[in-house]
Amino acid sequence: MKNDLERATKFTHMGRPPAGLGTSVSHPVTRASTLLFDKAEDLYRNDVRGYGRHGAAVHDALADLFTELEGGIGTMLYSSGLAALTGPILSIVKPGDHILLTDSTYGPTRHFCVTFLKRMGVKTTFYDPHIGAGIDTLIQDNTVLILLESPGSLTFEVQDIPAIAKAAKAKNVTTLIDNTWSAGLTLSPLQMGIDISIHAATKYFGGHSDVMYGAAIFANTARFKRAQMAAKQLGNASSPDDAYQILRGFRTVLPRFRQQEATSLALAEWLMTRDEVHQVLHPAVSDHPDHDLWARDFTGGGCIFSVVLKPLSDADVLRFIDGLNLFGIGYSYGGFESLAIHCDPQLSRNCAEPLAGPLVRFACGLEAMIDLKSDIEQSLAQVF
Ligand SMILES: Cc1ncc(COP(=O)(O)O)c(C=O)c1O
Repeated sequence: MKNDLERATKFTHMGRPPAGLGTSVSHPVTRASTLLFDKAEDLYRNDVRGYGRHGAAVHDALADLFTELEGGIGTMLYSSGLAALTGPILSIVKPGDHILLTDSTYGPTRHFCVTFLKRMGVKTTFYDPHIGAGIDTLIQDNTVLILLESPGSLTFEVQDIPAIAKAAKAKNVTTLIDNTWSAGLTLSPLQMGIDISIHAATKYFGGHSDVMYGAAIFANTARFKRAQMAAKQLGNASSPDDAYQILRGFRTVLPRFRQQEATSLALAEWLMTRDEVHQVLHPAVSDHPDHDLWARDFTGGGCIFSVVLKPLSDADVLRFIDGLNLFGIGYSYGGFESLAIHCDPQLSRNCAEPLAGPLVRFACGLEAMIDLKSDIEQSLAQVF
């Protein structure tokens, strides 16, 4: 595919089977554990796919699209977003190593590091997401990995990605970013010096809240090969049906993302004007403390943000969420439908000050913004 085509064109035309009389526009789903060989001598060839765990044409097509999305050299596919984090991490660390993890990380990533990695003898230090070039002072002789997520889960702090990547490179430390929020459409971390960018493809690429998937895109061949080897050793595989669904989601991700991004920004800007709201945590909103950093590095927003409400009892926060009619109560985002959650019970921070009020996260779907706004308005009126 020509390099100078627009993303919308590439996402439409890449990863399709060669055209021929009566060919479907999409890859067939080949379900297989056993793959047959022509001759016994072929059993030990390295240049052919030998077994179902090694994937199918639909996986290759999907991996190529992710590589194109982020401008990487290769992509590993996983059965969930969390597996796309833990798989590459396990390909890097060994007992006695030290890693640095942003305090604003997705909760299950935190949990994996402080439980599983701790048991393996790998030590995790949490750092303030705003640390920037100061990360240099936290790098020890045994530091092998810096994990970033920008903006952060639940609280949406923006990190100085190029500064952290530069400090890491100077000391030969690998960097991995959870790039799920931007879908890789509004942030290109590999172009800023990051080594591995991962996506919970469950979100925007699935797009319909009915499939789990993950992808890790690599900037460097040696790290890619190590992750391939770890995946082989750990028995990583993902279903061709799921790969098909994510590839299908790729075809329409751009217009869906653009609408959800616009809805989330419009709602966030409106919520800023409301007396019931103490603070809106959306970096694309102009008075967000990290707005300038966001504007420097991102070309757009995501579909999810939080608000800190004016102080309310726990019971009233729950009443506010229960009072919403168009927002489902559920984890996740990037699907066609809007969601809301109360974040305080799962908020875990080592480096941050407590928030001034209860934290509520909104994930915007494809509904009309005006209806979502009226829904929030009527529920706020019930509790304030
Ligand atoms: C930022 C982020 N990273 C990773 C994940 C994990 O993805 P999955 O649910 O596909 O395992 C999630 C899921 O909510 C997420 O929000």
